Amino acid sequence: MTDEREITLTINGTERTLEVEPRRLLVHAIREDLDMTGTHIGCDTGNCGACTVLRDGEPIKSCLMFATQADGSEIMTVEGMEDLPESDGELHPLQEGFHEEHGLQCGYCTPGMLMAGKALLDENPDPDEAEIREAISGNLCRCTGYQNIVKSIEYAADELAAQPATDGGTAAVEPGSSADVAANAPGTTGDADGPTAADDADGSDQFDGYDTEGGFSCGVENCCGGPSTDAEHHGDNA
Ligand code: FES
Ligand code: FES
Repeated sequence: MTDEREITLTINGTERTLEVEPRRLLVHAIREDLDMTGTHIGCDTGNCGACTVLRDGEPIKSCLMFATQADGSEIMTVEGMEDLPESDGELHPLQEGFHEEHGLQCGYCTPGMLMAGKALLDENPDPDEAEIREAISGNLCRCTGYQNIVKSIEYAADELAAQPATDGGTAAVEPGSSADVAANAPGTTGDADGPTAADDADGSDQFDGYDTEGGFSCGVENCCGGPSTDAEHHGDNA
């Protein structure tokens, strides 16, 4: 016996009506009923963040919500990014940042990271490194070691700050503002504040994962399945 219920979601600005079973997870409704497969499923248990979307502007893990619970909500997925005013019909500054700063390797976590980054910059256009790391703390990446993801979001913050306010951007960066000096902000690798919790997972002040030959050891236990701090990775992150 099916017990389907009608729900309405406004997804990336378009209202869609669906018939879903009460047990249907929002992520499955998005991927299978709406055919928007940009939102990924990594764990289905709320651990990885690959399924992160924005619900009424707030980042949520769509594998932890029934579709019926989202009835009447505005949902944004990665597919909606190009339609935002700040994208100007092309890549969103966040997407551009991930490209320019090598913020992805396999890309599995990326849609969730982009949504988490979008939620952060909507609320805080000028985040420091610790705030970025906090914002993405519910999103796991098995490839990058996170440093380039942080740089990608910093890149997007700078790009958005440089856009005219009428174009969806924010005020220009004041010389000497925290955005202007993000690269030297406390918690930035290699900064002057010494080792902090916002720095490397191993507590060192300097991100020591990458070498100059294209491979790196991330230094994070179990990252990418590596059993030890000597796990070798060979991403495009030199
Ligand atoms: S698939 Fe939702 S948190 Fe992993
Ligand atoms: S790029 Fe993040 S999991 Fe592969």
